[in-house]
Amino acid sequence: MKAMVHEKHPGFAGLTYHTDFPEPEAGPGQVKIALKSAGLNHRDLFIVQARHKAEDAPLIIGSDGAGVITETGEGVSGVHVGDEVVIIPSLRWEKESPAPPSDFEMLGLPDNGTLAESIVIAAGQVAPKPAYLSWTEAGVLPLSALTGYRALFTRGGLKQGETVFIPGIGSGVATYMLQMAKAIGAKVIVSSRSDEKLERAKKLGADILLKNDQDWAEALGGKKVDRVIESVGAATFNRSLSLLKPGGTIVAFGASAGDEITMDLRNFFYNQWNLHGSTMGSIEEFHKMLKLFTRFQIHPVVDKVFDLPDTVNALQRLKEGAQFGKVAVSIN
Ligand SMILES: NC(=O)c1ccc[n+]([C@@H]2O[C@H](COP(=O)([O-])OP(=O)(O)OC[C@H]3O[C@@H](n4cnc5c(N)ncnc54)[C@H](OP(=O)(O)O)[C@@H]3O)[C@@H](O)[C@H]2O)c1
Repeated sequence: MKAMVHEKHPGFAGLTYHTDFPEPEAGPGQVKIALKSAGLNHRDLFIVQARHKAEDAPLIIGSDGAGVITETGEGVSGVHVGDEVVIIPSLRWEKESPAPPSDFEMLGLPDNGTLAESIVIAAGQVAPKPAYLSWTEAGVLPLSALTGYRALFTRGGLKQGETVFIPGIGSGVATYMLQMAKAIGAKVIVSSRSDEKLERAKKLGADILLKNDQDWAEALGGKKVDRVIESVGAATFNRSLSLLKPGGTIVAFGASAGDEITMDLRNFFYNQWNLHGSTMGSIEEFHKMLKLFTRFQIHPVVDKVFDLPDTVNALQRLKEGAQFGKVAVSIN
């Protein structure tokens, strides 16, 4: 089958497009899916950059995808050949809980991922594709929308009428959070390095736009927010924190611009702030996210669609931070 495989060399040099990669078969409790479309995440970039040993086994990258079930293994019930599904990339994390179970993993490392014609996965790791979404939209939904849902609601506790600040609005997760927060009736403030991305965020309903090179506190006239959802990391974390109300909550789930920060502890405890980490989400939260999307008919923001053999250029776009929303890969 056709597949985008990472092997032997670190970085993009190790990415090879195969046309004869071995087809997987559905074992007991598993389904085989013919993928129609997939999506990219920053994680794919990190994986390609981090795998550097010649002996690293060939890996099909990718966590996001949607397609049609073509085979069901022994003992599978509840899903059938012909079902149109989206893949739930959060492996073995069934129920909403403060943290994932110890055997939790994300699809696409160490297991083969979605940038291929077919994938085999446990039957419980799929959900019905919402009919109102195109294949491209469904393919870019899973990882980012789930991460955004948990960060905003389960960990962030965002409610109707509250104000949330989402820095780095160009990111795929950030655009989903903007859409979900607006859908439930929250006020949303966003930031970006790019005027163009801020304009696009405005069209999605963002209430206040902050440019990274602006003085944010001055632009907000001293007003503070109830929640901050941070994923940019070192470049913005402390600036974002400074916008939080006393007693407010900041959730961190990413660090695109660096892992390490320094923090003024006295400021932190006098302000009685809550700091929560978050990572992806459970299968239960995935179904809640799909329900919310369907209820409000939210369409993912698709930045650009690349063909499978052109995945390197798609990853390059993410590396440059040029995208607004999700980068998609068309498969069949
Ligand atoms: N923990 C988890 O389970 C989980 C799941 C998904 C994602 N993540 C993490 O969340 C982050 C976002 O992921 P993603 O794939 O949606 O987005 P992404 O494509 O990595 O986009 C990140 C955004 O951050 C901003 N940014 C990047 N570098 C910056 C810098 N040096 N200075 C200022 N802003 C900068 C940019 O926003 P502007 O262009 O608008 O300025 C960029 O669009 C990543 O770190 C990812 O690893 C974590």
